[in-house]
Amino acid sequence: MYRGSKVAAVIAAAGKGERVGGPVPKQYLDMGGEPMLVKTVRCFSKAAEVDEIFIVTNAEYTDRCRRMLEDHGVCKVSAVVPGGRERQDSVYNALMAVAKECPDAEYVLIHDGARPFVTGRVITDVLESVCSHGAAVACVPMKDSLRVADGESSRAVDRSRYFAVQTPQGFRTDVILGAYEAAFAKGFYGTDDAVLVERTGHDVAVVTGDYANIKVTTREDMPMEIRTGTGFDVHAFAEGRKLVLGGVEIPWDRGLDGHSDADVLVHALMDALLGAAALGDIGLHFPDTDERYRGISSLSLLRQVKALISEKGYSVVNADITVMAQRPKIRPHIEAMRDNIAEALEIDRDRINIKGTTTERLGFVGREEGIAAEAVCSLCR
Ligand code: CTP
Ligand code: MG
Repeated sequence: MYRGSKVAAVIAAAGKGERVGGPVPKQYLDMGGEPMLVKTVRCFSKAAEVDEIFIVTNAEYTDRCRRMLEDHGVCKVSAVVPGGRERQDSVYNALMAVAKECPDAEYVLIHDGARPFVTGRVITDVLESVCSHGAAVACVPMKDSLRVADGESSRAVDRSRYFAVQTPQGFRTDVILGAYEAAFAKGFYGTDDAVLVERTGHDVAVVTGDYANIKVTTREDMPMEIRTGTGFDVHAFAEGRKLVLGGVEIPWDRGLDGHSDADVLVHALMDALLGAAALGDIGLHFPDTDERYRGISSLSLLRQVKALISEKGYSVVNADITVMAQRPKIRPHIEAMRDNIAEALEIDRDRINIKGTTTERLGFVGREEGIAAEAVCSLCR
């Protein structure tokens, strides 16, 4: 309720999201651990002023949408209805559902499902303006200078008079229903709801929106998620074994003990990668009780780890690995190690850094009982 009046919200989420692309319409893509549409709808279910929410989505997604909102505990959703060819057709379907199922709603807020960053402040301000004006739209002042083209030439425009239009757009219910009926009667299609209202001669008030309230339109608008992981591993020296570090066989009188090739550097890196993707650790994926992994090259396991993190949608930004060994010196082999790892991860070698250090003869590394390695990595999605 807002000042004693009932408020319905319409969420337009029936587009195909063709410009973003992807396996599902953009409003169903994951954004920081939950579908974009869940984020958007939650903004309205959290707003104390909003009583009922009507979602219009792709016809083949209505059941999935209902289940998704239920699973995420999003409340106040009164109906999920199928959309139409254009946004205007979709919103009309939702408005019809409002008229039927929530006939006492005095105000309707219309919002794009692809604007998940709307704030409670903007919702309240639009409602307040609707109360006094009957129609109000969230807008932001243009940030860039504007020019208008006229054939080959162009001229500057006074930017201070222009605004970029966002949603929510709020209306008295009778005003928006009348505007939609009038538009369809004339076969007119507009780019937003305010355009239709304006054509009926009704004024539309401008409310200060929020620059963060973007409409996700192209892939660049999807926020990038960056995650960090760390890994640490130790292997003891053993007689009669090859010394393999970063996939490079280093001539030395002993090697490292282990079930696989005991490449301690690659093991630390794999744990960092799995850690960043919240996929556990190498013991979980490649148990040393499994005969398949006896003597296996750790680089081939690294390729499998790369496949696992790719499956979750992550790619490697960079990794920094420190090898702690009193002897032998690893410096002459570092470039070859970087190449091996970059190739296994299918990234540029300048995303991989490898450093060697002694421990000043202190501890098990200093006594040359074994080698330790530590890795830090970043992944992005
Ligand atoms: N929308 C809708 N019904 C349509 C088309 C669009 O409900 N027939 C919704 C979209 O889901 C989106 C909002 O209107 O929340 C704004 O549209 P737009 O950004 O153009 O989204 P899409 O149409 O999905 O994207 P594209 O044009 O790239 O296919
Ligand atoms: Mg579209």
